[in-house]
Amino acid sequence: MDKLQYQTLGEFIIGNQDDFLYSSGELSRLINSIRLAAKTVNHKVNKAGLVDIVGAAGGINNHGEDQQKLDVYADQIFIKALTNRQIVCGIASEENDDFIVVQGSDKSNQNKYVVLIDPLDGSSNIDVNVSVGTIFSIYTRVTPTGSPVQIEDFIQPGHRQVAAGYIVYGTSTMLVYTTGNGVNGFTLNPAIGTFYLSHPNMEIPADGHIYSINEGYYNHFSEGVKEYLKYCQEDEDDRPYTARYIGSLVSDIHRNILKGGIYIYPQTSKSPNGKLRLLYECNPMAFLIEQAGGLASDGHKRIMDIVPTELHQRIPFFAGSKNMVEKAMYFLNKSVH
Ligand code: AHG
Ligand code: MN
Ligand code: MN
Repeated sequence: MDKLQYQTLGEFIIGNQDDFLYSSGELSRLINSIRLAAKTVNHKVNKAGLVDIVGAAGGINNHGEDQQKLDVYADQIFIKALTNRQIVCGIASEENDDFIVVQGSDKSNQNKYVVLIDPLDGSSNIDVNVSVGTIFSIYTRVTPTGSPVQIEDFIQPGHRQVAAGYIVYGTSTMLVYTTGNGVNGFTLNPAIGTFYLSHPNMEIPADGHIYSINEGYYNHFSEGVKEYLKYCQEDEDDRPYTARYIGSLVSDIHRNILKGGIYIYPQTSKSPNGKLRLLYECNPMAFLIEQAGGLASDGHKRIMDIVPTELHQRIPFFAGSKNMVEKAMYFLNKSVH
């Protein structure tokens, strides 16, 4: 049977609304607007190369990185989609130094959710027609509703996420998300602009044969990481493993969830905290991976237990198939003692 005959994302969201105690439909509306923004960004990404959207925008973001035109475009689309509908009280984005306070027209926004977002992940890949993505993370605010959001509404540990997900603009466009009841993936049928449930209840295999790391930085890795890489490459049992690294976190994680594998962005002697951002890259991915049966660690502790101190905080990231992450941790801790 054609997989795309299944439920639409819109139907799925409505059908699962009752999973939330005292649900007012706010979270459903929020995921719906992410779905709409994803379709708009998808349309633009698909036209890259045809219209003047490829290349640098001329700006530099808060991490000192060149902003691509699509980074800026995707950021504006998601922010507009979330603010116009008045369904969140605050947004934090990779592309903006500070969080955005969303206030209703009467200045009394009663919404309780904040969204943290990496609007375009892997944007350096856009010029060369390689898959990019969007990552989002949703929390309930901790300060009282009706008042402007504060930094503490955003810097919450990942285990408090109420939902998280990503969109991969790939050979086909998919939206994958969790609200803490497993992980479901939806594929966009571009002919009619509708997402269909194509990957119900996604589970990451406990073992895998893929390791994903930028080995160009090998000389800057710790001994533990180097030893784990040697283990991956050894000619024993079911090894050597296969190396696969796209350089788009969303695509690398998506492939590893489907096939089994480990993704590593460790600390290096040049970047003591790694490169990836805790709040809108690692936490949402950790929530999805754990919900799919895998593990996510910074090398010592569970990603989702880390108490953040800054909005744009970076953290080393080891995530994927349970047994592979456990083995990597073994090598990491062995070389410490
Ligand atoms: P972004 O495009 O949002 O800045 O993220 C890029 C990230 C991530 O997608 C990818 O896994 C990683 O950077 C690649 O970094 P390296 O080029 O250092 O390997
Ligand atoms: Mn990113
Ligand atoms: Mn980005």
